[in-house]
Amino acid sequence: MHPFTKTRALLDKHKPGKPPVALTIGEPQNQPPAFLAQVIAEHDQEFNRYPPNQGSDELLEAQIAWLERRYGLVGLDLKPQRDLLASAGSREGMTMAIRAAVARKLAQGVAKPVILTPNPFYHTYVGASMSAGAEVVVVNAEADSNFLPRYEAVPDAIWQRAAAVILCSPSNPQGSVASAGYQKTLVDQARQQDCWAIFDDCYADIYRSTPPPGVLAQLDGNFSNVLVLHSLSKRSSAAGLRCGFITGDARAIDDVAAIMKFTGAAISAPLQAGAAALLRDDVHVEANRARYNAAFQAAREALDCDIPEGGFFLWLPVRSAEEACLKLWIEEGIRTLPGDSVAWGEGGHNPGSQYLRLALVIEPNLLPSLLKRVADCLKDQLR
Ligand SMILES: Cc1ncc(COP(=O)(O)O)c(C=O)c1O
Repeated sequence: MHPFTKTRALLDKHKPGKPPVALTIGEPQNQPPAFLAQVIAEHDQEFNRYPPNQGSDELLEAQIAWLERRYGLVGLDLKPQRDLLASAGSREGMTMAIRAAVARKLAQGVAKPVILTPNPFYHTYVGASMSAGAEVVVVNAEADSNFLPRYEAVPDAIWQRAAAVILCSPSNPQGSVASAGYQKTLVDQARQQDCWAIFDDCYADIYRSTPPPGVLAQLDGNFSNVLVLHSLSKRSSAAGLRCGFITGDARAIDDVAAIMKFTGAAISAPLQAGAAALLRDDVHVEANRARYNAAFQAAREALDCDIPEGGFFLWLPVRSAEEACLKLWIEEGIRTLPGDSVAWGEGGHNPGSQYLRLALVIEPNLLPSLLKRVADCLKDQLR
């Protein structure tokens, strides 16, 4: 079940105790920079045209320049059409990558391909895998492994059927960052089993102080079996623009592009121009980071809790996700996501059942008093 549906089923039977405030959705509440609207307006003559499926040259060049700046990927000779593919957000990128990975394994004669996903997960990993006819194998990512999935513990028999293994760094919901070594080991494992390692890096630019490493910088220019997804939704607070991209293994990109050509959304040309302008600018991204850092500073002060290395979610340890979520809603009107709604339970253990997810996306000035209310309301619940 979709996490928001599950949360609605839990909360909507009850009236909020105070005027409602939502900390549920991971959607930036500030605006993208004003030049975005200007650039789109300058290209308004292009709405009549079908846009280039794979992305305009201008957009693909801007993606390359950003990759080079952000990760120091110089001298790799990235080529627009070969190495990059625009997607309508990383959700579309992930869905299409999973479809292509599953089709590839079926063609290799694997009757029931597997998608390995972290647990907790971003719901699209599971939804896209199931709709592609794959078996989903969830791998717990908990405090004892710095909230990174223990893929090394997956049995060989499962790996042999794996079409793809997914990693999100910084992760949703915990905000954990995978080290370069962890990423490289995962790629080695994926190559051994000839499956794809799909890196969901849509939070790559939302970090506290140290830029999270990117896997492409660890591979000496050999991107085989690796796909990386990026997005402007979080980086540029432009979730409604629906602009992201995929990069990595040229053969895999070709497979994904073939599916997108027939069934993809394609991003309209004026929006592609706007996306290119956003990618060329880092000033607004620094302002975004400062905003989230202020939000986490408020969380640290109000809740005396650990602060994640990246992302904008607080993964707050509580005794019972369901009880804490209900209490906050009924007494304070504060809506949060119970951790077990973004994870699967197995063998009686759900890795989210003792966490609440709070999206710290609202105006940071409002957070100190709001989070103080959370702390007071949950004083018997916080771990
Ligand atoms: C981990 C993760 N991946 C992908 C997405 C999809 O984002 P978009 O399609 O807007 O790039 C989200 C959105 O919340 C997310 O949290």
